[in-house]
Amino acid sequence: MKAGIIGTGHYVPDNVYTNHDMEKIVDTTDEWIRTRTGIEERRFAPDHINTSDMAYEAAKGAIEESGISADEIDMILVATVTSDMGFPSVACQIQERLKAFNASAMDISAACAGFMYGLITAKQFIETGVQKNVLVVGVEKLTKITNFKDRNTCVLFGDGAGAAIVSTVSEEKGILSFELGSDGTGIPHLHQTDEDHIYMNGREVFKFAVRQMGDSALNVVNKIGLSKNDVDYLIPHQANIRIMEAAREKLDIPVEKMSKSIHKYGNTSAASIPIALSEDVKAGKIKDNDLVVLVGFGGGLTWGAVALKW
Ligand code: ACO
Repeated sequence: MKAGIIGTGHYVPDNVYTNHDMEKIVDTTDEWIRTRTGIEERRFAPDHINTSDMAYEAAKGAIEESGISADEIDMILVATVTSDMGFPSVACQIQERLKAFNASAMDISAACAGFMYGLITAKQFIETGVQKNVLVVGVEKLTKITNFKDRNTCVLFGDGAGAAIVSTVSEEKGILSFELGSDGTGIPHLHQTDEDHIYMNGREVFKFAVRQMGDSALNVVNKIGLSKNDVDYLIPHQANIRIMEAAREKLDIPVEKMSKSIHKYGNTSAASIPIALSEDVKAGKIKDNDLVVLVGFGGGLTWGAVALKW
């Protein structure tokens, strides 16, 4: 039996910061942000809402949609680089709040590719028969590590959470192939500084992302003997519309077949793919038997992709 997604959920804070709001914080313009990134607004969590609070809300939604109960969850994987504290993990924090007392729990650090790492780890535990239901969450409160004096980065990011219940589905459906990778030589281009801020060499990360997103998306499709023409829907990490467009063009699929929420939420790192997935499922954009490709990249550098039959 293959592992697939049986429920999704997401949470974004209510506080909307438009590009015009960002103009009041740093020397930038709505026009620059829109044309260079595709971002129009983002959500910033207030002080009293921490990473674990957002993870909990998204997880609750995924559990509800899946129809399982919290005590049926065998493992909780939370992808984040902005946990509430060094330890315990966000996974343990939400285990307690969800009352998922039969689950093991740990966090995964793979930056924006974190949800892909979680999804693919869940697949291994499920398809080896060790576990049945795994809760995978991607969550970030990036405002905790955003330097609001650095216009190169602060206009890009937002806060939020997305979650999925991964479980056995069938022989034909679920995750058909995957790719995971990392390249530590990219650390100088994207990392957390001693001051706990995000440092990013945008041009270098951009070049890497454009190449990797398209290549990985194509690789997971080719691995199962299919071609780009067979892809029904693409969910790329929502980092920059120009990077997303490059991936879409590589797969040669129309605009309406690519998930897009970057304009509303900016780059929410590990949360971006599961938020997009959850919204698209609820909007009916993903249909039974669709071949869906999820692809992400992030600090590390890290990357991951899956081809899954919905
Ligand atoms: N407002 C106005 N001007 C700005 C801003 C801003 N917010 N930010 C930078 N600029 C200026 C720069 O200073 C530069 O000016 P200069 O030419 O006088 O030096 C000019 O705009 C152009 O800068 P570029 O870096 O060439 O702009 P580019 O078109 O490459 O876009 C961007 C920059 C959006 C950051 C792009 O490089 C990018 O998206 N990179 C990838 C980022 C990413 O996806 N990161 C994901 C990982 S994040 C994580 O893992 C947590």
